[in-house]
Amino acid sequence: MTGKSQKPKILVTGCNGLLGQKVVALTRQRYWTVGADLQDESLGSVDEYLTMDISKREAVLDAVERISPVGIVNTAALTNVDACEKDRDLAWAVNVDGVRFLLEACQRISSSLIQISSDYVFDGEDGPYGEDAAANPLGFYGLTKLESERVLVGSRSPWAVVRTNVLYGWARSVRSNFVLWVRAQLAAGKYVRTAIDQYGNPTLAENLAQGILALLRRGQQGIFHIAGADYVSRWTFALMIARVFGLDQKLIAPVLSAHLSQWAPRPHWGGLRIDRAARELGISILGVQAGLNALKEQIPLEEMEVR
Ligand SMILES: NC(=O)c1ccc[n+]([C@@H]2O[C@H](COP(=O)([O-])OP(=O)(O)OC[C@H]3O[C@@H](n4cnc5c(N)ncnc54)[C@H](OP(=O)(O)O)[C@@H]3O)[C@@H](O)[C@H]2O)c1
Repeated sequence: MTGKSQKPKILVTGCNGLLGQKVVALTRQRYWTVGADLQDESLGSVDEYLTMDISKREAVLDAVERISPVGIVNTAALTNVDACEKDRDLAWAVNVDGVRFLLEACQRISSSLIQISSDYVFDGEDGPYGEDAAANPLGFYGLTKLESERVLVGSRSPWAVVRTNVLYGWARSVRSNFVLWVRAQLAAGKYVRTAIDQYGNPTLAENLAQGILALLRRGQQGIFHIAGADYVSRWTFALMIARVFGLDQKLIAPVLSAHLSQWAPRPHWGGLRIDRAARELGISILGVQAGLNALKEQIPLEEMEVR
């Protein structure tokens, strides 16, 4: 249960993704951090790395038993909302079965599991939502995230579910996200059409990772909403991105979701109430301006390549 340095060991699945890279950067300070993802090598700085597909039961059970971590943080998922709508079998295999296998492995060695979920478990009729609000996903991605939560709730081993939304940030070779996309479009002088009727609270990936680390250290259990402090539309968010990065706001067009060619339905009034996290986790939760400023400081714009 401890690594070579006698620190307690944890496993972070999906460690090459945006959130995964931010989580391992923080957990390594306190935990011997084993990272796992689909690729041949780690993109971040983990203590140990293994290639592992969480949708393969035997591989998960074997690896977790061998590593024997005190806890697992599962950031691995099929995160593309439209791809989940189109390839439902794959979405279910990764986002639901994968979590089931991780939980089974945790139960065998009495370790804890933190699962990352989404505000897409809600229908967006009257957000932002508190932890106890009734779930009613509009699309298949949201359904898989809700089912992943149901895998954990009531488990006999320690568990926590962290719901977040509109995650943004930069790390090595990450997929694009709303901020990187808007910035790249505007920097290339292209128009950006953004929804005036999709609301949420944008979340800087580092800030979410801080919340996850706090949960891990305190061993707190249950469902937690960890997200940014400001509730804004995608259009307002895009305007703020342009301002912070010194780009042309006039290229940003406000449109209704119905006029965007998005395959899967999106919640309108989505987003999350974060009172519990603010009260219990002891982290400072950033608003949009502070989050974008922090991102701008991280890395020269020309180096913001994505995969
Ligand atoms: N992004 C958002 O706005 C948002 C909002 C709410 C909640 N979340 C949740 O937050 C978590 C982290 O999101 P993120 O934005 O950091 O995602 P991400 O950048 O797409 O990272 C996910 C990682 O998981 C890997 N992965 C995919 N399938 C896997 C499998 N079968 N086995 C092992 N690893 C696998 C991906 O590899 P490949 O890249 O090769 O597929 C990727 O490295 C996810 O649970 C997501 O649902 C995200």
